[in-house]
Amino acid sequence: MLLTRLELSRPPTDWCAALPVVRHLESQGLTFTERVTFLVGENGSGKSTLVEAIADACDINSEGGKAGTKYASTGMPSPLGEALDVELTTTGLRLLRGPRRGRRGFFFRAETLFTLGQHVSGMKGFWEDDLTEQSHGEGFFTVLDRMVSGPGLYLLDEPEAALSFRSCLRLLALMHQVAGEGGQIICATHSPILAGLPGAQIVELGDHGVQRTEWESLQLVDDWRRFLTKPDLYLRYVLEED
Ligand SMILES: Nc1ncnc2c1ncn2[C@@H]1O[C@H](COP(=O)(O)OP(=O)(O)OP(=O)(O)O)[C@@H](O)[C@H]1O
Ligand SMILES: [Mg+2]
Repeated sequence: MLLTRLELSRPPTDWCAALPVVRHLESQGLTFTERVTFLVGENGSGKSTLVEAIADACDINSEGGKAGTKYASTGMPSPLGEALDVELTTTGLRLLRGPRRGRRGFFFRAETLFTLGQHVSGMKGFWEDDLTEQSHGEGFFTVLDRMVSGPGLYLLDEPEAALSFRSCLRLLALMHQVAGEGGQIICATHSPILAGLPGAQIVELGDHGVQRTEWESLQLVDDWRRFLTKPDLYLRYVLEED
């Protein structure tokens, strides 16, 4: 493990102070117990806010990018990142705060990946291929295969965004491999496939704040299960509401 716990050093002053996940961090903190953690929850529950803050606090570019390039794009930390204290292991300290050339961490942010690609494709330490010459999902794997590998902290925000069912399984296998190589992954996702990785810690964000849960108990798994079992019945409720 590289990162074992999050706490707030002081209440954040900005818009994020009202988010349930932030109030939970303030009162109880959040402990990471496994090499792979999934952050799951409805749109707007605060997953990206949390992942970006972790990136900031771990000196990884919070707009997506590598360790050691903190604030490289905006010059500004996120309001939550400024208030977040991260507890790093000795390995975490070495790989995230040690000599710059030995730093290993990457923030795969689906939202801004292709903008990042315009700046760094072909550069030393990144990937060779031009993402604009690949399909959306192919481009994702060009980056994932190259940048999410070996010991290091890997933050992923909705990496399933461009991926088919089978590509999600491929990503699941990559995550499993990276965990076995001594890496740590924190991934915000809406994918029941990714969240199904055996042995992963699942943290569900919601109005209640944050709760650790099992795959079987996730709302998103229940929704998918019911939809796939009887799509007609499920959709009737949705369409009748109009
Ligand atoms: N810069 C900002 N200024 C004000 N409010 C913000 C800002 N960024 C996010 N928020 C608010 O914080 C809340 C959490 O947003 P966040 O992007 O973390 O959600 P999320 O769980 O990642 O959602 P999604 O699943 O849609 O990606 C939202 O209600 C959003 O409107
Ligand atoms: Mg998000």
